[in-house]
Amino acid sequence: MRQRISDVAGCLPEEIAIHRNTTEALASIVFGIELQPGDEVVLTHQDYPNMVHAWKQRELRQKIKLVWLNLDLPIDDDDAITKTFTQAFTSKTKVVHITHVMNWTGQILPVRKIADEAKKRGIQVVVDGAHSFAQLDFRIDELNCDYFGTSLHKWMGAPFGTGFMYVRKEKISTLFSLMPNDKPNGDDIRKFEALGTRNFAAEQAIMTAIDFHEAIGIKRKQARLLYLKNYWTQKVKHLPQLKFNTTLNDKYSNAITNVIMDGMTAQEMEAFLYDKYKIHTSSVNWANIHGLRITPSVYTSLNELDKLVHGFELMAEKINVKK
Ligand SMILES: Cc1ncc(COP(=O)(O)O)c(C=O)c1O
Repeated sequence: MRQRISDVAGCLPEEIAIHRNTTEALASIVFGIELQPGDEVVLTHQDYPNMVHAWKQRELRQKIKLVWLNLDLPIDDDDAITKTFTQAFTSKTKVVHITHVMNWTGQILPVRKIADEAKKRGIQVVVDGAHSFAQLDFRIDELNCDYFGTSLHKWMGAPFGTGFMYVRKEKISTLFSLMPNDKPNGDDIRKFEALGTRNFAAEQAIMTAIDFHEAIGIKRKQARLLYLKNYWTQKVKHLPQLKFNTTLNDKYSNAITNVIMDGMTAQEMEAFLYDKYKIHTSSVNWANIHGLRITPSVYTSLNELDKLVHGFELMAEKINVKK
């Protein structure tokens, strides 16, 4: 299974530890990197709450310094995003935490560019790949990162409670495990797998999910998701009441889109689509992002997206009537 995952992930099997989800994988990394009081970690207010909280706890207990970026998404400019990160790097920066695909809006961050800048300065790179893995066509060893965590119950479609952490081979011995085995300084990736009793059946089914994923192929999967996103967004983008928190530039977002209707809250939009069409969406109110997240998957049909489009048209009409 380690071999199969590493083939899909684009790294060595000895760099993969099976975990139960992104939170577990990244917590092991956040709490396992050696840091001294005063060392700086660069991250953003738009990162995932569990990771934000993990870093904040580390700051509280060990007096490291968190350097926060506030991204004004969407941003259609890799160089501008990279510059925002590099401007925050100082001689004390030891780690940069990068969310590959922002779950709130679907924004794709230029991990490789940021990582290259970080590496020039000796900064370690942590990547949250919860939404990029098995959605986007990339190899972990092309990202130039040191650590990567993801869930397999998201875009890979494996059972709940499956995921993995990647640790670059040279970094394994210096990273401590959240749940250690008898060799905390060892260089065997299995030291991160002393997780207690695990759901063996769920883990074994990872390989069936990989079979399915490979039967489609990541290139076609990514293209299909983009097609579905473009299908519905093209039909509603003319609505003057609708503001996009996600760029429609294909380079910067794939399946996920976040929108907000003038005169409605994200929660009202979510309730409207669910009550009327039983369409499940997700309202977002986090940091400076307020809107409704729409996420088609490979099994979403065009008929279903037509209903969504109709829902938006109806919302827009209702708002006009109110005005
Ligand atoms: C960007 C990001 N990171 C981490 C997570 C946590 O994933 P899990 O709940 O599988 O641990 C999520 C979940 O949605 C996410 O979107």
